[in-house]
Amino acid sequence: MSEQRQSIHGIWNSRIIFILAATGSAVGLGNIWKFPYITGEYGGGAFVLVYLLCILFVGVPIMMAEVMLGRRGRQSPINSMKAMAEETGSTPLWQIIGWMGALAGFLILTFYSVIAGWAIDYVFKMGSGAFNGVDGATSEKIFGDLLASPGELILFHSIFIIVTLYIVGKGVNEGLEKATKFLMPALFLLLVVLLGYSLSLDSFGQGFDFLFTFDFSKISKEAFVVALGHSFFTLSLGLGAMMAYGAYMPAKASIASTVVTVAALDTIVALISGLVIFPIVFANGLEPGAGPGLMFQTLPLAFGQMPGGTIFGTLFFILVAFAAWSSAISLLEPGVSWAVESTRFTRPQITIALGALAWFVGLGSVLSFNHWAEAKLLGKTFFDVLDYLTANIMLPLGGLLIAIFTGWFYKEKFSHDELRMNGSPIFPIWLWTIRIISPLAVVYVGLKGVGLID
Ligand code: TRP
Repeated sequence: MSEQRQSIHGIWNSRIIFILAATGSAVGLGNIWKFPYITGEYGGGAFVLVYLLCILFVGVPIMMAEVMLGRRGRQSPINSMKAMAEETGSTPLWQIIGWMGALAGFLILTFYSVIAGWAIDYVFKMGSGAFNGVDGATSEKIFGDLLASPGELILFHSIFIIVTLYIVGKGVNEGLEKATKFLMPALFLLLVVLLGYSLSLDSFGQGFDFLFTFDFSKISKEAFVVALGHSFFTLSLGLGAMMAYGAYMPAKASIASTVVTVAALDTIVALISGLVIFPIVFANGLEPGAGPGLMFQTLPLAFGQMPGGTIFGTLFFILVAFAAWSSAISLLEPGVSWAVESTRFTRPQITIALGALAWFVGLGSVLSFNHWAEAKLLGKTFFDVLDYLTANIMLPLGGLLIAIFTGWFYKEKFSHDELRMNGSPIFPIWLWTIRIISPLAVVYVGLKGVGLID
């Protein structure tokens, strides 16, 4: 069936390119910036274990479903969901998944870009040697000074939005594909260099234990919600990004093995980031629960102390910015691809309009780190609210609906064919996971989150 529909946006040149693009989407600030700081905030090992279980039993099966529906639909998530519902005789209302997803992607982009802006700012800070030989307190102060300067934050937020629009505007083959080819391997290499540094610290064992000692007495209810939400965030699930990328996937490629590869790479990058950051935290007397600034306060210390640190440090933040870039693209793609299909505007026009709006909303997040820091809703700043609403509510809800649609409404035979399973025993395992286990996990965590169960 997917051979019959055609993507008007282009097709990835090969399965490897799809893996690179999907990994480019998955691996981003979520892995290097967010995973370590939420792990620090929610108590370490037990949180990591819940997160890993979510990746395995919720993330991987749902990613397979998203890529499958996208490839079979060959359109934007909204129109693919419409087509898939039609194909299987269900109500067109299922396209709500696509609408909610496009909105979630847009909202995430608004703050994602602000954080990515910090990384760009740090390229210059590292490059100028600002961190040579500094101690923990100075590193914290440099970061604090950045947050206190809205002008500086806006400048780099703007730069990041512009480069993202540039790629999305150019489209799949010219834009997205070229960007990811070299960046991902380079980022991986640099992380391994950093791992070498943190292995040399006396506190490596302490950092390791922090990540991998599963003490369940330390884990709160909210930690479950955040771990589940993060498993969606880090794998780029729940809003149709993987559906959009799946629409450009070559027809013959195996979805299961591809998805497992992407999820494994994503998880490895997150765990390495944790193994790099926590030993530095403990070696310098910093606070694991320091919050969103964790990566920006710790890694410069490592670079400030190691030989060649200025060069490595500069390079590292360049790569983080690139990792964020290849992720941000996929936040906008669901909305943009829909508008390209369904309105008479061109891709560049649509991209610029949506990007300008995202830039504007992003100013709220910029201000929430300084002038609006005290303006709170339910104890959360503007940035916190957007982060919580998208990652912990919208993405899991989107994922739940995708699981229910694929597991219970979509025709089993279509899934079987599209996944190219040929009677493999993996198929029933996937099907029953997505029917029962993934939805139950999301509902269970959701009920825990709102306090209906313990
Ligand atoms: N996965 C990316 C990260 O970890 C963020 C991201 C990009 C994303 N596209 C997405 C999250 C789509 C959810 C859905 O940094």
